[in-house]
Amino acid sequence: MTDTTLEPTSSVNTHYLERVIDLAEERHVAATEDIFDTRGMKLVAKGTRISRSLKEKLIVHKLHKSLESCIALQDGVDTIAIMREAHRIAEAFAPIAYIVEEASKGRQSPFEVMSSIQFGNAMSMMLTLTERGGEAALSHSVMVSLLSTCLASKLGLDAKSQAGVALSGLLHDIGELYIEPKFLHPERRLMPSEWRHVIVHPRVGQMLIADLENYPVAVAQAVGEHHERFNGAGYPARLAGRNISVPGQILSVAEMIAELLGEQDSPLERAELALRIIPNEHAFSLVSAVSSTLRLHHSVPSVPKQDGALADEANERAKILFDHIAVVVETGDKMMELPRLNAGKARELLDLTIKRIDTIQRAFYSTGLDSSRNEDAARDQEIMFEAIVATREIQWRLRDLARDVALHCALLGAAEAESFQPLIAMLDAEPDPSYLARRIAERPQQKTSGCVTALSDHMLSAPAQRTLLLVDDEPNVISALVRLLRPLGFRILTAASGEAALDILAHNDVGVILSDHRMPGMTGVELLSRVKTLYPATVRLVLSGFADVNTVTDAIRLGAIYKFLTKPWNSDELGGILLGAFDKHEHDLGNLLEPAASTASA
Ligand SMILES: [Fe+2]
Ligand SMILES: [Fe+2]
Repeated sequence: MTDTTLEPTSSVNTHYLERVIDLAEERHVAATEDIFDTRGMKLVAKGTRISRSLKEKLIVHKLHKSLESCIALQDGVDTIAIMREAHRIAEAFAPIAYIVEEASKGRQSPFEVMSSIQFGNAMSMMLTLTERGGEAALSHSVMVSLLSTCLASKLGLDAKSQAGVALSGLLHDIGELYIEPKFLHPERRLMPSEWRHVIVHPRVGQMLIADLENYPVAVAQAVGEHHERFNGAGYPARLAGRNISVPGQILSVAEMIAELLGEQDSPLERAELALRIIPNEHAFSLVSAVSSTLRLHHSVPSVPKQDGALADEANERAKILFDHIAVVVETGDKMMELPRLNAGKARELLDLTIKRIDTIQRAFYSTGLDSSRNEDAARDQEIMFEAIVATREIQWRLRDLARDVALHCALLGAAEAESFQPLIAMLDAEPDPSYLARRIAERPQQKTSGCVTALSDHMLSAPAQRTLLLVDDEPNVISALVRLLRPLGFRILTAASGEAALDILAHNDVGVILSDHRMPGMTGVELLSRVKTLYPATVRLVLSGFADVNTVTDAIRLGAIYKFLTKPWNSDELGGILLGAFDKHEHDLGNLLEPAASTASA
């Protein structure tokens, strides 16, 4: 049985106790005061060394005071040991030295801030147990503390707040000491359902600090928030935006980049890319604090040289991930049709999950790594670098989502939770080319090359009605076009932005899309280039000012745009052009289906 509950003033957490007893077998751990149970019976006298023989007694009885506050380790981790490790880290990792140097300019150095940290017996014990938990465990805590302090300094936080951030960084993972060790083993790939054991650690850490130390409230709070994300996709509370304290936001960024900064190749570039890959995952001010450090340090080696074989492999991995995400999307779409997921909490969870998948998919497209890339681009060093980093980051986000969905399934009925399992499994799975190939082959009507996995099933059946999607940020233009085109019998959908258009395309069979070019956010050419990849049979037209003709020439040449029409439009001609576009769509669709149909019948 796994015990991840914490009641510091009564029951002893067995995993913490086991760690303490292991330590006590090698080092001097003793009671700093008499330990009583809640009925006043003395269990352990002051000065007694903690040993395995006391384990039973300490577990069976409810204690009057928490065990953590009644014991101490001789010569445990102290500020001197922390500072030694902080300096070692800065010497070992050049990017961290840059960040520290940058944060020290004209201000108190992050090292000075950290050296003011004070902690008592309980925290010294926790950090010593952390150190014993694995080679890099204490190093990770010190690194997060150092980076958090640098970020706090760059954001201009006052000295007291910086010291609080340094402490939070150092203690951020102490809650892990209350989790069964097998769930933390670095080699173990946790099943999404096992994630519930780990997810409690920020909250446990927060409670421990609040109960055991006299630190400012902000310290414990930041520890509780260190896995929250600005866009609400974090844990344990799914806090978003300013609901996460500034120190909590800082810790979240520092914790995320700490590991990346230890990489051999271009660590700062990796960290920066990881931070911005999902829009709004972290506060803009923090992402730009990291980016500005990156820009200042030209001495940071540029992106690593990728040889041809590596470039091909990265290209291949990106393509596999592209197919994988398409299958995830497809799985989510099919779940939308399940009656038992049609209402209530199950529907809410499904909607939220699909929204997050969509965000991840868009983030992937925005890297330009989908199959629309040409081979020259594939050899481009920077694109290759992005491919390698982004592929890994995107896979992590999918796995995070799997864990989150699995966790929230606990709030659903058994049958509803069961319906989510295929989606959880897909999100968590390592993209498997042979599985993806099978899934593609199982679709009798689809082509099996290029971007075919992004084609939705329903798109390949002949549409009952001609569906036109109009995209323009000007509502007046949209209403004028709707008025003009409605008599032609089209089903007309409208979108005010490229992003909204992609949403609509994901859920509707659109034969023809007519888009403005100049729009805030995604331009018409960007949108139609993505549509070309995602829904190649959708005929794509631009309706824009004459001045934009030069901008879109390349897109026309590359086949992303079928026709460029100028504003103001000729009302007599526009309908005819669109009818011709639908004819083309139906013709193209026929061609697209033909080879697959013959394969299916073979
Ligand atoms: Fe951590
Ligand atoms: Fe953590």
